[in-house]
Amino acid sequence: VAADDQVVLAAVWDALRAATTRRTPFTVAHLATVDAGGAPHVRAVILRECDADAGTVAFAADARSPKVRDLRGDPRVALGLYDGEAVQLRLEGRAVVAGPVERRRRWEDLPPHNRRLYGAGPAPGEPLPAATDAAPPEVDRFAWVRVHVDRVDRLDLATDPHERTVLTRTSGGWTGGRVVP
Ligand SMILES: Cc1cc2nc3c(=O)[nH]c(=O)nc-3n(C[C@H](O)[C@H](O)[C@H](O)COP(=O)(O)O)c2cc1C
Repeated sequence: VAADDQVVLAAVWDALRAATTRRTPFTVAHLATVDAGGAPHVRAVILRECDADAGTVAFAADARSPKVRDLRGDPRVALGLYDGEAVQLRLEGRAVVAGPVERRRRWEDLPPHNRRLYGAGPAPGEPLPAATDAAPPEVDRFAWVRVHVDRVDRLDLATDPHERTVLTRTSGGWTGGRVVP
């Protein structure tokens, strides 16, 4: 990619890294998946980790949730992010659910108040059960999902004219550049 586009790409990954180390407008991303019938579903997730070299972002979810069911069936996902002012990021890629060893490691890194979200009981979206004692957190309910980003679309409305850069990842690196907004 051209030097200008390289700068844009680096800025995108810097912003994503910042979003995972402190709360920024990009910390909450909207994740789109498709279900077995091809219907789209979108919901907010918190970006918890970003690896610019690998080109990945990661989030935590209930292993039995519809989103995890969707992406196990079709790993293609899209993420929409907005900085609250002028910049939109659209990321597309493939989701991989971490295996048991990494899941255990991530689980142990999770703060206790976060682990409580993964108490045993009915799956997300099931009818709320009658009040019972809170079930203890259960690692089996926890999924760590890494998205291998292979397309980045950054739109900036703060500039005149507006700027949009679309970059896709190939085996040889990122390609693409400025496009019409
Ligand atoms: C600000 C915010 C952050 C959220 N972060 C997560 C998250 O990191 N992981 C997650 O599984 N759900 C998160 N949720 C809840 C999801 O948006 C969604 O309601 C829930 O996970 C069920 O999604 P599903 O039925 O599509 O699987 C968040 C919701 C909000 C409002």
